[in-house]
Amino acid sequence: MNLNSISNTILDETSSFEQLCNALNAFSLLCSEATGVSPDPSFDAWADDALLDNGVAINPQAAAHCVVDYARSVAFIRGVSAAIDTLKLRFPGSSLEILYAGCGPFATLLLPVLGKFLPGELKLYLLDVHQRSLDSVQRLLTEFGFCAHSVQLIKADASTYLHPGKLHLVIAETMQKSLEQEPQFAVTANLAPQLCPKGVFIPQHIEVSMYMADLDHERRLMDYPRLENDSQEGGRAGSGQRRYRLGTVCSLSPEHAFDQLQRARENSTEVVPALEPTIVEITSIADISRFDAVLFTRICVFEHYRLKDYESQITLPSKCFELSDLVGGERFRVTYQLGSYPRFNFERLPKA
Ligand SMILES: C[S@@+](CC[C@H](N)C(=O)[O-])C[C@H]1O[C@@H](n2cnc3c(N)ncnc32)[C@H](O)[C@@H]1O
Repeated sequence: MNLNSISNTILDETSSFEQLCNALNAFSLLCSEATGVSPDPSFDAWADDALLDNGVAINPQAAAHCVVDYARSVAFIRGVSAAIDTLKLRFPGSSLEILYAGCGPFATLLLPVLGKFLPGELKLYLLDVHQRSLDSVQRLLTEFGFCAHSVQLIKADASTYLHPGKLHLVIAETMQKSLEQEPQFAVTANLAPQLCPKGVFIPQHIEVSMYMADLDHERRLMDYPRLENDSQEGGRAGSGQRRYRLGTVCSLSPEHAFDQLQRARENSTEVVPALEPTIVEITSIADISRFDAVLFTRICVFEHYRLKDYESQITLPSKCFELSDLVGGERFRVTYQLGSYPRFNFERLPKA
């Protein structure tokens, strides 16, 4: 499979999931053969990760492995392609200034569709903190014949980088589920204000919400979808799912991220800044022992390109282990902590 047919398969909305997986596997293979970067999940290896002030930048092999988070890659690649089409209409005749922050070694969210656009239509800035990733991308641009495109490779920290001029499009996927560990929040807060009016930031919105959920039951539903018609009691979040919504604990949008981060820096009494907290109350239910407090992450990549619960690694549920043995009526202060290891903190509040 060459890059052109990979691109066509990914953008074709009628492609089956199997065809999409095959196309992304082919892309990953082409890239690793050309660059020598081997995708590796590196789940328990911190080696080569960059521990930055605003979060962890995963190493090039782990970043390459993100390609096979299939639904994620497809939603983002289609979203990026659609966003560029939209921006071409919004800014006719302009060469679009595009910053791809955290491009990794394969520039996965853009490279598969770059061939759709003429060299003069785009000015690309591909940024990563890992030089090895930038070297790899340089090699791929040559390998795939994109030498005529205007591309600048930038080694920098995306959470502090200042671009010399306004951007039409920023692409940044520097996140894990429940916005833990990686610097998506700080990157968005820094880069979104550098867009021109009517510019686009991808992803357009990320929301983390807290629920009481029976994850064993949900897993069984996924194994045996026919059970979805089971009749269940109230408080459900979806067909067949037994969930009780406790609240939105973080809403990240390019329009508000900078102000939220500023407020966090000004108001936090702690050394590490934190967003304004949310108070949640555990719902009293009869079979509470079956439920966990769980964070769910939903992503709007661009317009209708979205990632829902369980669809990708970055929208998997994340159990709040600190809140085991839930007790109805208990209240918690939930705070998203920024700094070098972004994460949620939970503090039990005294009974009213
Ligand atoms: C989750 S990977 C995604 C790679 C690729 N964009 C993709 O979507 O497949 C995140 C990438 O962002 C880079 N990154 C994370 N934080 C960064 C930061 N603050 N500045 C620059 N690069 C960063 C990492 O080095 C890594 O290459």
